Amino acid sequence: MAEEMSTAVEGETKAEAYVRIGKEIAAIVAGETSRTARYATAACLLAHNFGPRFFWTGFYVVDPQKPQELVVGPYQGTLGCLRIPFGRGVCGAAAQSGETQLVRDVEAFPGHIACDSRSRSEIVVPVLDADGALAAVLDVDSAELDAFDAEDQAGLEAICKILLTA
Ligand code: SME
Repeated sequence: MAEEMSTAVEGETKAEAYVRIGKEIAAIVAGETSRTARYATAACLLAHNFGPRFFWTGFYVVDPQKPQELVVGPYQGTLGCLRIPFGRGVCGAAAQSGETQLVRDVEAFPGHIACDSRSRSEIVVPVLDADGALAAVLDVDSAELDAFDAEDQAGLEAICKILLTA
C-alpha cells in the first residue's frame, strides 16, 4: 500500500505537530507486527516533519543475543555507531535507567558518544514492549545547541507509547 507522507504544516505549534504525526504513525502501523516496520515509519515521519532540527533520528534496539547492548535499528541521518553498551553515552544511560535523557549540550554529558561530531544536543526516549521491558531507545540528535525542550520530550514519549500499542 502506498502512503502519502506528511511534512511540516505552516502555522502549526510543535505540540500540534506531535499529535498529528502520532496519529499518522498510528494509522500507518496499525496491525503491523514488525518492529522494524514500526520503527522505520516513526523515524521517517519524525525526521521529515521536523526537518533540519532533527539531524539524526532513529532507534537503537536491545540485542536479543546481548541483552546489555544496543544495536542500531532503523534511522534517518548520517552514519550512526553500530553498537552501544548499556550505561555508555546518552543512549546507554536511557537504556540503563529506563528514563528519557534530555541533553541540552552533549559536550557537558560525561561519556557522550560522538557518532557525528556535528551533534550538539540530543534526546533519548525508552521504547517498551508489551511486557514493559525495554525494547529499544529512540534517539534524536540535533546540530543545534539546546534544540529540545519539555514539549519535545512529551511528544516523543507519546510517540514511543504509540509504537507499543498501535
Ligand atoms: N549520541 C549518542 C550516540 C548515537 S548517535 O549519535 C547516532 C549517544 O551518546 O548515545
